[in-house]
Amino acid sequence: MAMRLWQVRRHLDSFARKDPFWAVLTTDGKEANRWKIEEFFASGLNEVDAALAKVRVRLPTMDRRHALDFGCGVGRISQALARHFDHVTGVDISAEMLVQARHHNRHGDRVDYQHNAAEHLGRFADGTFDLVFSVITLQHLAPEYSRRYIAEFLRICAPGGAVYFQLTAGTVRPARRSWYPPTVAKNIWRRINAYLALYPTMEMNSLPRAEVEAIVRAAGGEIVWVDDSHGAGTAFESCVYLARRA
Ligand SMILES: C[S@@+](CC[C@H](N)C(=O)[O-])C[C@H]1O[C@@H](n2cnc3c(N)ncnc32)[C@H](O)[C@@H]1O
Repeated sequence: MAMRLWQVRRHLDSFARKDPFWAVLTTDGKEANRWKIEEFFASGLNEVDAALAKVRVRLPTMDRRHALDFGCGVGRISQALARHFDHVTGVDISAEMLVQARHHNRHGDRVDYQHNAAEHLGRFADGTFDLVFSVITLQHLAPEYSRRYIAEFLRICAPGGAVYFQLTAGTVRPARRSWYPPTVAKNIWRRINAYLALYPTMEMNSLPRAEVEAIVRAAGGEIVWVDDSHGAGTAFESCVYLARRA
């Protein structure tokens, strides 16, 4: 059973209190607060530089006024986007993540962090952002939510702007029904934990590429480029989509 948004929020708040950097990048050996802050934020700089180079080639006239980082966590990507855009807004469902993000902000009021626990991005008017950016976030949401957020990305993207997002496309197999007692016990424990967030966890979800492209088109967008080279053939097969308003 996929987590509801309020459950995602509870789990991420709990993660943010215990081990916020590892909750964002679950690299082996970096758990238990072992990420070095400079190294962690440097990964964001590299990722954003590489992504924007790809965007620039395909959408060279994109303006650099205002970018949105959806699912900003502790601000790894937002901070990096601030080197390229006049203003960056980071939104996150976890207020605790945003406490960390504000603490690590190095760009003053050029970066603002906003809490959004809604299923939509109604707080932003149509055409607000030159770039809407989101990585390693939609994959943690049930498809009913990611479908809606993707459509919202297109709505809040300015004409001439870009929407750049990543989402797992592989088949995440639903848990099989089983009456084997240890499996039953494990499933009961999972359900209890999903509600109580005793041990924070993040679910993996995915949407097939064809469906994502259809959502973009239905929202008045146009797919510019898709990179499907990540984890091909594995459960974590992932696509990066670059879209614009048609
Ligand atoms: C794995 S972290 C990635 C953070 C950031 N994108 C990065 O790459 O550094 C995922 C973040 O998405 C946030 N998130 C999950 N669901 C969200 C939603 N519905 N709206 C906004 N943020 C959400 C989580 O709280 C968490 O901070």
